[in-house]
Amino acid sequence: MATPTRLHHHHHHPHSSASKLIIFFCLSAFLGIALIANLFRASLSSHYLSIATNWVDSNAHLVLIPNVNDTTPNNNNNNVKDGKNAQRRGPERFLSATFADLPAPEWHWEEMPAAPVPRLDGYSIQIKNMFYVFAGYANLDHVHSHVDVFNFSSNKWVDVIKMPKEMAHSHLGIATDGRYIYIISGQYGTQCSGPTTASFTLDTATKTWKPLPPLPAPRYAPATQLWKGRLHVMGGSKENRHTPGLEHWSLAVKDGEALEQQWREEVPVPRGGPHRACIAIGDRLYVIGGQEGDFMAKPGSPIFKCSRRHEVVYGDVFMLDEEMKWKILPAMPKPNSHIECAWVLVNNSIIITGGTTEKHPVTKRMMLVGEVFQFHLDTMKWSVIGKLPYRIKTTLAGFWDGWLYFTSGQRDRGPDNPQPRRVVGDMWRTKLHFWLAHAKQ
Ligand SMILES: *[C@@H]1O[C@H](CO)[C@@H](O)[C@H](O)[C@H]1NC(C)=O
Ligand SMILES: *[C@@H]1O[C@H](CO)[C@@H](O)[C@H](O)[C@H]1NC(C)=O
Ligand SMILES: *[C@@H]1O[C@H](CO)[C@@H](O)[C@H](O)[C@H]1NC(C)=O
Repeated sequence: MATPTRLHHHHHHPHSSASKLIIFFCLSAFLGIALIANLFRASLSSHYLSIATNWVDSNAHLVLIPNVNDTTPNNNNNNVKDGKNAQRRGPERFLSATFADLPAPEWHWEEMPAAPVPRLDGYSIQIKNMFYVFAGYANLDHVHSHVDVFNFSSNKWVDVIKMPKEMAHSHLGIATDGRYIYIISGQYGTQCSGPTTASFTLDTATKTWKPLPPLPAPRYAPATQLWKGRLHVMGGSKENRHTPGLEHWSLAVKDGEALEQQWREEVPVPRGGPHRACIAIGDRLYVIGGQEGDFMAKPGSPIFKCSRRHEVVYGDVFMLDEEMKWKILPAMPKPNSHIECAWVLVNNSIIITGGTTEKHPVTKRMMLVGEVFQFHLDTMKWSVIGKLPYRIKTTLAGFWDGWLYFTSGQRDRGPDNPQPRRVVGDMWRTKLHFWLAHAKQ
């Protein structure tokens, strides 16, 4: 996209080049100071995850222009290509930090009572008007071991349920049959701790827990869903937190109990990895988005300190039907991960709120997602239907009485900066009117 014409033009204007160079160095120095200041602030404040300020490949030649009008969306492959070209072009490349935001209607959001604690990588299940919000990180050095319960009818946080102490604290698999909640495997502990195979059910009527047969091998954030009487668990990351697992297991369950001793092997998922939405509708099972690769514990670190590794985000949609063969459906409008509880089903469509997309091709920094997506199950088409109040990942979404709710997650640094920063417990809602927008198309 940056053309030889631009380089040419450059050579013919040595004066403007020189002054540009000076401005450029000043900006670089300023950015450098800002970066260092940020790192210090992050290490001093327990409210900010150091994940958010893990600067990889800090490229001193780069000038970020917030809010530039170039908002051309890119898909996965273009991103990778763009990244390489951009690096080759070096200082000639000007790329907005917000280039990956897709055009979307502004929505009016109403702020609701915030969750009792902030959460990153929390999980949620809605059962009628009750919303169960599980576990998660408060910050990298503190994880929650309880469930907060919100009542959509009274719009109040009404209950707290303690989790079994053997249960994982993040990167769970989670599903419900409308009374029992099934919680599978996940990360046990803070930072980038190891996983557990321990799995449980919660009876929401009696608030009692029971163990399930452990998963055959531990997984981080496997796609999990109840489908035709069996609990299906697939993908996720393997024991090292990074390597994608392709395995797919299922277990016959009823009323919060296993009907079998052993998990059964099923047809492996075409792409492994954590943080995907997994949704069952009738005789179809959908697996949406997610990523390959994730942060890993630093070798030898006694606290399993997280260190960033290569990861690739996907917008893939896979579907399993009665044939038990995976089919590929149209991909999301952009790659999107950390959406395992960011979806609701409304009027034969899947709505997904926020997430995190491919890293910035030049700066390699993480970029959060602020759009609301809709997948029409009749036409198999995606649309971008609205905007959240800010970009945010690992949101927990619910739908009640015409209102779309979301709470918790890690939000951006501001309108011009899509990098992750503060972990929040804020709760918002908006009245959904998409059927109008849909009809107009
Ligand atoms: C985008 O471009 C339009 C028209 O060229 C201009 O009026 C507007 O101010 C620009 N927006 C930003 C954020 O630069
Ligand atoms: C939820 O709120 C509604 C309306 O205030 C109330 O009738 C109902 O009992 C509440 N349910 C629970 C479990 O708190
Ligand atoms: C779903 O469809 C019904 C009727 O077709 C409509 O009344 C309702 O408003 C729709 N829901 C939303 C959220 O648009």
